[in-house]
Amino acid sequence: GNGSAYRKASKSNTRQQGNGKAGGSTLTTRQGHPVTDNQNIRTVGNRGPATMENYHFIEKISHFDRERVPERVVHARGAGAHGVFQSYGMVGNDPVEKFTRAKVFRKGKETPVFVRFSTVGHGTHSPETLRDPRGFAVKFYTEDGNWDLVGNNLKIFFIRDAMKFPDLIHSQKPDPVTNIQSAERIFDFFSGTPEATHMITFLYSPWGIPATYRQMQGSGVNTYKWVNADGEAVLVKYHWEPMKQGIRNLTQKEAQEIQAKNFNHATQDLYEAIERGDFPEWELNVQIMSDDDHPELDFDPLDDTKLWPKEQFPWYPVGKMTLNRNPVDYFNEVELSAFGTGVLVDGLDFSDDKMLQGRTFSYSDTQRYRVGANYLQLPINAPKTHVATNQRGGQMAFDTDFAEGQNIHVNYEPSILGGLQEAPKPGKDYTPRYEANLVRQPIERANPFKQAGETFRNFEDWEREELINNLGNDLAKCDKRIQEKMLEYFTQADENYGRLVRERIERATKELMKMKQAKIAGTDGPLGNVTGEAG
Ligand code: HEM
Repeated sequence: GNGSAYRKASKSNTRQQGNGKAGGSTLTTRQGHPVTDNQNIRTVGNRGPATMENYHFIEKISHFDRERVPERVVHARGAGAHGVFQSYGMVGNDPVEKFTRAKVFRKGKETPVFVRFSTVGHGTHSPETLRDPRGFAVKFYTEDGNWDLVGNNLKIFFIRDAMKFPDLIHSQKPDPVTNIQSAERIFDFFSGTPEATHMITFLYSPWGIPATYRQMQGSGVNTYKWVNADGEAVLVKYHWEPMKQGIRNLTQKEAQEIQAKNFNHATQDLYEAIERGDFPEWELNVQIMSDDDHPELDFDPLDDTKLWPKEQFPWYPVGKMTLNRNPVDYFNEVELSAFGTGVLVDGLDFSDDKMLQGRTFSYSDTQRYRVGANYLQLPINAPKTHVATNQRGGQMAFDTDFAEGQNIHVNYEPSILGGLQEAPKPGKDYTPRYEANLVRQPIERANPFKQAGETFRNFEDWEREELINNLGNDLAKCDKRIQEKMLEYFTQADENYGRLVRERIERATKELMKMKQAKIAGTDGPLGNVTGEAG
């Protein structure tokens, strides 16, 4: 082609040209030396050995040797884009200030955002057609500093206590011996985790394979709080609803057909839509509850395996997000981006959701390891507002974040010599009162199956059929004891659910036997599913 599909660097993403000597398109080393020969290493004579002072070659190859950082321990496969969030300023008929003083939600406010979508279980180049929750992480560069909303597409989660996260993920990841994902290991864990039944019901339905990142919902999943100027709080849940592009999910067969030809289809779809100016949009909705334990409900509002029923807790649209700019460098912007549930701004707060508290430690902990101690100095992670800390040093420190006019000798507080000062309080403190014994206990109102049954009955027929087939095909590969336990859970959710999965397991088992007898090797036949195991 003529290269017209390729984007060109603009001034904003071009490094300043020092003295201009090597300007234009001249190739240089990192030291700014113009490169006159990028073909041949320096050798003693035409056929002789290479020399050690080959600075250009050694810089080039040793940087290449270090091109990767560890991939994310979960959500390694992702795609990202920049955009803007515009606030409506209202919650139903009330001004948003009634509930939160967060400036990002004020009427008409526009805030730049960066979004990263992802799958969870497999590595950084794994197929984007896999059955898996999808990550939906949004970084808002607000005037009060950054706010990250780190969510998924399914509104709920498998577990409700952060203690179980490493176990959950180990069961989903490949077997530590064979390095192959295994349905039996997955359902071994789930058969001891009744609260996962609701999430499994979504995951094994077509909702477990969104057609593209553009055509899926997003949700904060965990419960947060909003705090107003008087220091009063409400519980809040966040949901992103795709606007003009709508919601679309795939059958197992459709996903396999795409995967046979393209394992990057979701990244490609997002990139190409933005390049052609077809900017995807989502509306942000909130659900609000008063800040107490709601004894009238049959679930705990802090239980992330539950939906807050829409009829009781309506979705209020509070703003709109448009993604309108692709990264110029995938690694610098998408791979090095770091989101975390601890990253809140004034007017937003944590709830006592035990998952949320555990997550809040985990994200920045892994990022200090994955990216490095100064990961927040990188342009993608740095706030676009005033930053002035007393932090100095650490690997790759380059940004000394002074405040204008400050005494640069003072990197501590307090000081009367012109160091940094505390900010004034933006409103009344929110000071909830606690009085309880320190315990290790599961939550009350566990109620693991009722909403799973409701979700099952709310599906369209084709969605239920897919669910039954996908579950039956994978469970047929599992130990009988695991099958029985899972069937008990599905039956408690809905009798039909249990019965239909049992029938499908029986049929799939027979099909598996037949395939084994026919010694069909290297094919999934009709049974290919989450694990991609050969029959
Ligand atoms: C990524 C931990 C639950 C959504 C991650 C990462 C860790 C982690 C360590 C990698 C971060 C990085 O390397 O930058 C946990 C723990 C959880 C938990 C300990 C439970 C206790 C959840 C839940 C959701 C979720 C419930 C959905 C609401 C995400 C997303 C990413 C992610 C979207 C990828 C962010 C990105 O695109 O960079 N999680 N997670 N996680 N997690 Fe979680």
